[in-house]
Amino acid sequence: MNLGDPVENLEDEATLQLDSNGELRHLLTLKGLDKVILTQLLDEAEHYRTAPGSLPARARSLEGRTVGNLFFEPSTRTRASFDLAGKRLGADVLNLDVNTSSRKKGESILDTIYTLQAMQVDFMIVRDAGAGVPAYIARHVSDHVSVLNAGEADVSHPTQGLLDLLTIRLHKGGFEELTIAIVGDVQHSRVAMSAAQGLQTLGVAELRSISPAALAPDPENVPGARIMDDLDDGLRDAEVVMALRIQRERIGNLDGIPGIDEYFANFGISEKRMQVAKPDAIVMHPGPMNRGIEIEGTLADGPSSVITEQVTNGVAVRMAVLNRVAKTMGTR
Ligand code: CP
Repeated sequence: MNLGDPVENLEDEATLQLDSNGELRHLLTLKGLDKVILTQLLDEAEHYRTAPGSLPARARSLEGRTVGNLFFEPSTRTRASFDLAGKRLGADVLNLDVNTSSRKKGESILDTIYTLQAMQVDFMIVRDAGAGVPAYIARHVSDHVSVLNAGEADVSHPTQGLLDLLTIRLHKGGFEELTIAIVGDVQHSRVAMSAAQGLQTLGVAELRSISPAALAPDPENVPGARIMDDLDDGLRDAEVVMALRIQRERIGNLDGIPGIDEYFANFGISEKRMQVAKPDAIVMHPGPMNRGIEIEGTLADGPSSVITEQVTNGVAVRMAVLNRVAKTMGTR
């Protein structure tokens, strides 16, 4: 990562993202967002949600604004959904091709940001492999610019967390009675971190983290979760099961991580393994999926799977976040 400047204190992301009135100025993390804000974001996203095949929701609330997608790591879902969310709210959307951008010539990320804000880009949607990068940018942008974290190292993926919360709420009605099992490489998963933060704030009854020892998280990173290493115990009576892929790009040393067949046998979610979960349990996956490793293909395509609904909800959630943050732009 070439920041061009040292990364500063990462501790105050939760307060940095709020303005003096407690309103969202940036979205950097779900940590510290209270139940009221989370619920309002989910409510607004639900309002934007329409079924595939019907016309998508549209509004003009971002007319005149510009959304810049800056993805310094690969993405299909998050990048495409921010693009569509911005356009469906009437914004201009710039998708920076980082492979042909001047960062390849050694330009620092801040100089790239200053260049785009000089072109009146209002939203910087940032994905980066470096921890602290979205907050670092947020500390340096002009008053008219908001930064939305679109996936930060193994630390945080707040809009994914929100779309997961929305998907669970739509199927289960709430969180207080639920047992939720997150299965796989929780240690390297920004998705799991954001989901755990949001679920704790919304008062989930029981959160379980199930992984082989080499992929188990630091308990501090999955607040409130029961750390487990047996899949049957972890799935028993669960109402929601979220499978995660092994994030090989973030693992330096693969020692201790089972091979594919052993991994699927012990930690792969399948129709057979799901028999111990509640009969109406839903199966989630943030994507991209590795079928036959962390999830059986027929389960991913079967009636308990809500994986494509998660994708639909992702556009609605990103519309809600853009709209919410845009409301603070006129008051700075
Ligand atoms: N879930 C998720 O972040 O997917 P992408 O990497 O495709 O954006």
